[in-house]
Amino acid sequence: MQAYRGDIEQVLISADEIQSKLAEMGEQITRDYAGRSPLLVGVLKGAFVVMADLSRYIRLPLEFDFMAVSSYGAATKTSGVVRILKDLDHDLRDRDVLVVEDIVDSGLTLKYLLKNLAGRKPATLEVAALLRKEGIQQVELDLRYVGFDIPNEFVVGYGLDYAERYRNLPYIATLKASAYS
Ligand code: IMP
Ligand code: MG
Repeated sequence: MQAYRGDIEQVLISADEIQSKLAEMGEQITRDYAGRSPLLVGVLKGAFVVMADLSRYIRLPLEFDFMAVSSYGAATKTSGVVRILKDLDHDLRDRDVLVVEDIVDSGLTLKYLLKNLAGRKPATLEVAALLRKEGIQQVELDLRYVGFDIPNEFVVGYGLDYAERYRNLPYIATLKASAYS
């Protein structure tokens, strides 16, 4: 994308690769939830792009809801202390809830969130994440659907930001050092 060209170091996952993977994940979810009507829960803001594309590969009646959380700490690190800024509109009791995430890094945000959502007594609670960072997961998490395992580098694009930019890149990329200043 021309607008950000000077900032991109390397494209790690192309737009085509993302779409094929989401199609696979969507088919799997369609099979796993056959006859049911899951509630997709997106964690704002990063997940909005994954949610939009993944949901169109799921051939089931779906409902959508969103949460906004903020983790205290520096821009590129997570502290594990999570504050709910916007809660869900839906009652989760007896629903098949599928949390859609852009990236699981330390896993601390997701762990907190899953504990919170489990307390609302859904029938099932699973996670679909496009990206998982290798090696450094600080907490044990059972992720039902994972798109790609990536190295422990800061990435942007496809919903993921640095300082609120780059979310609209159609691929996943690393940034040049100059883009951080
Ligand atoms: P975690 O709690 O460490 O798993 O990270 C939670 C959030 O940090 C993610 O949902 C992202 O918003 C953000 N994050 C983690 N790694 C990256 C990255 O490489 N690029 C952009 N955002 C990231
Ligand atoms: Mg972010």
